[in-house]
Amino acid sequence: MKIDILTLFPNMFKGVFEESIIKRAIDLGKVEINLINFRDYTTDPHNKVDDTPYGGGAGMVLMCQPIFDCINSIKTSDSVVVMLTPDGVTYKQKVAYDLSKFKHIILLCGHYEGFDERIRSICDMEISIGDYVLTGGEVPAMVLVDSIIRLIPGVINEESHIKDSFNKDYLLDYPTYTKPRIYNGMAVPDVLLSGDHKKIDEYRYNESLKRTTDRRPDLLD
Ligand code: ADE
Repeated sequence: MKIDILTLFPNMFKGVFEESIIKRAIDLGKVEINLINFRDYTTDPHNKVDDTPYGGGAGMVLMCQPIFDCINSIKTSDSVVVMLTPDGVTYKQKVAYDLSKFKHIILLCGHYEGFDERIRSICDMEISIGDYVLTGGEVPAMVLVDSIIRLIPGVINEESHIKDSFNKDYLLDYPTYTKPRIYNGMAVPDVLLSGDHKKIDEYRYNESLKRTTDRRPDLLD
């Protein structure tokens, strides 16, 4: 898989892609990530990528030309172009699964007051990571990259994401424990030490259901 991230602030991504599972996926050749500064595509003599909004108002608006030229120069028939924007569709695990099937993902990060509305016409999807406004699309792009990369076959043990919260049966994860057996008077449930795998599966399923009912009843719909 190739992921191209279009951003005015490529340095924001450095640490995130140089650690842990994302780094390993890159080293294994499972994913190639390119940070592309769309300012490099502006034809403006002063390197401008934004301008004031028509009709007045606060802030600067990202202009069409650098973004259209950048996307048109890298897009192929295998690409999906995703705009990160607070007014997009709320990101869910199902979307991460769908995106993990693409050969080429282009993530477009906004900044400032937003995008010229016409930029939406060159995007296939508009995604928000939640109902809050961030300073730009860079952190949301990191969220997408992390959640997608771990689903690429061979990046992590498949069993670990099959049992994830928000997997296909939409239940939150069950509680997990490790050593010691008793910590500060809090004991690990006996069933987990029983060696009876049928009982353990049952216990975990019931705990998942209980936790989902308590915390996210909306997922049970
Ligand atoms: N840009 C600013 N806030 C955002 C959000 N919540 N999701 C996606 N992109 C954004």
